Amino acid sequence: MSTVHEIKHPLIEHKLSLMRQKETGTKDFREMLGEIAMLMAYEVTRDLPMKEIEIETPMSKCTTRMLSGKKMGIVPILRAGLGMVDGIMQLVPAAKVGHIGLYRDPETLLPVEYYCKLPPDVQERELIVVDPMLATGGSANAAIDCLKKRGCTSIKLVSLIGAPEGIEAVQKAHPDVDIYIAAIDERLDDHGYIVPGLGDAGDRIFGTK
Ligand code: PRP
Ligand code: URA
Repeated sequence: MSTVHEIKHPLIEHKLSLMRQKETGTKDFREMLGEIAMLMAYEVTRDLPMKEIEIETPMSKCTTRMLSGKKMGIVPILRAGLGMVDGIMQLVPAAKVGHIGLYRDPETLLPVEYYCKLPPDVQERELIVVDPMLATGGSANAAIDCLKKRGCTSIKLVSLIGAPEGIEAVQKAHPDVDIYIAAIDERLDDHGYIVPGLGDAGDRIFGTK
């Protein structure tokens, strides 16, 4: 079974509390989402493999460590996942970005794929799938399925808020995918929205409602 990493940090909790408030406008919402994504990326990248190298400082030779291993890829689930890309890229600027477009059918709550564009060497990369909301888990599972079909084997999922139902669904379908999340909320409502949640993340990021 995969591990659920609930990233608890005062800065993340404070910003998320502001984002949840219905009075918070698009500009502030988007900025805080980016900031939280950057803070989360610090934890998500904690286990990246390192290698020892010999260098020379102005003072002397020494052995130090740098990143080794696979290159990274960030895969936002459109639309709302886009709001997390820049924050993560601030810490891993060399990452390539693949996009998976999914929307949730409001009747069935099932994800519908409408776009997929990935780096050509995607299967060789350590991938971080990003989407602020993990509700039923249908969208995250569909995105991960899509990556695995293309041979990807190293995948993490990073979300802001998850419902217990969504977390369980991803763990069941993809026991090899660790989940990083800033908050685990109470439940889903009858329309598949997270309660208390923050509403529709895509609409709040892009001002479409
Ligand atoms: C939202 C959200 C997730 C999905 C979560 O996207 O950004 O992708 O719903 O729900 P699930 O876990 O039940 O699949 P939405 O379908 O509203 O599309 P949007 O980002 O384009 O607004
Ligand atoms: N998508 C959202 O944007 N918010 C939710 O609460 C559930 C799905």
